Amino acid sequence: MENILEVKNLKVYFTQKRRLVKALDGIDVFLKKGSIIALAGESGCGKTTLAKTILGFNKPNEGNIYFKEEDITLKKNIELIRKNIQIVFQNPFLSFDPRYTVFRSLYETLSVFNPVDKVKAQDIIIGKLSEVELTPDVINRYPHQLSGGQNQRVAIARSLMNDPALVILDEPTSNLDVTTAFKIMDLIIRLQDNHGVTFLFISHNLKLLRKVSHYFFIMYRGKIVEHGPKDLVYNNPQHPYTQLLKEASNQKVKQVSQDSPKDEGCPFFNRCPKKKDACLHEPTKYEVEPGHFIYCHFPQ
Ligand SMILES: Nc1ncnc2c1ncn2[C@@H]1O[C@H](COP(=O)(O)OP(=O)(O)OP(=O)(O)O)[C@@H](O)[C@H]1O
Ligand SMILES: [Mg+2]
Repeated sequence: MENILEVKNLKVYFTQKRRLVKALDGIDVFLKKGSIIALAGESGCGKTTLAKTILGFNKPNEGNIYFKEEDITLKKNIELIRKNIQIVFQNPFLSFDPRYTVFRSLYETLSVFNPVDKVKAQDIIIGKLSEVELTPDVINRYPHQLSGGQNQRVAIARSLMNDPALVILDEPTSNLDVTTAFKIMDLIIRLQDNHGVTFLFISHNLKLLRKVSHYFFIMYRGKIVEHGPKDLVYNNPQHPYTQLLKEASNQKVKQVSQDSPKDEGCPFFNRCPKKKDACLHEPTKYEVEPGHFIYCHFPQ
């Protein structure tokens, strides 16, 4: 299966109170066409930064992003991004103008690439709404007249409006109750099955990601620490950080972290229960079993 998107040695730095924050510190990620790829890691590890950089909102300090082999970090390819890559954010209420009906919000998106008259647009929009299992009457409602789950479905419908190749879902279920979250995840699985859209699903919860995705990337402090097919990574996590993250998602406790940043060596050094002197040096990639990789000096 070909990769629809490849991220190579991507570095994005910010300055906060005169301190350099390496939000992305040289990451490699690849998204196989027609699959659901999970990006997992705790708060502040750089997940949204990666999403925004793919969408062209951040300029990388170093590295490249290729969409079907075109370098989309180049300004001239911004149209390629707009046409092919969409994002759904965490809070569906913030995604829409509260003064607009569903029809108006979706019509605006539709007409960017498909300037049809309103009658034709209505058919297309009702069609998209039915793909996300909403009834046609939703079209005349305002965001405050819909539930969180319904608004998130409208946001997903909007993301699919111009048939993008890739949709990034940035913690799309974390504002929803458990039952609604599971329904939205079932919907994502069905959409992927039926339309072959590639999804990048961002979350800090491995248990939830296990349900929807085919492939895992685990991120810590701006670096990928482990990646591989979902079952290999989830059933047999090899990086001490992945093991911790899995435990946390099973116990429903929120990760607390924020150790002082370290510039060299393993990013997980301060918190790792298994660290040794060698970990003061940057770990290289190691294949623990076919297709399953970690960045750690001491694979189990
Ligand atoms: N525009 C910005 N300016 C300065 N610092 C930023 C900016 N955007 C992100 N950061 C910093 O980059 C780091 C990564 O942030 P990011 O939002 O990517 O994390 P995240 O993994 O999405 O976290 P969460 O799970 O809480 O959404 C954080 O330290 C954050 O403060
Ligand atoms: Mg985020």
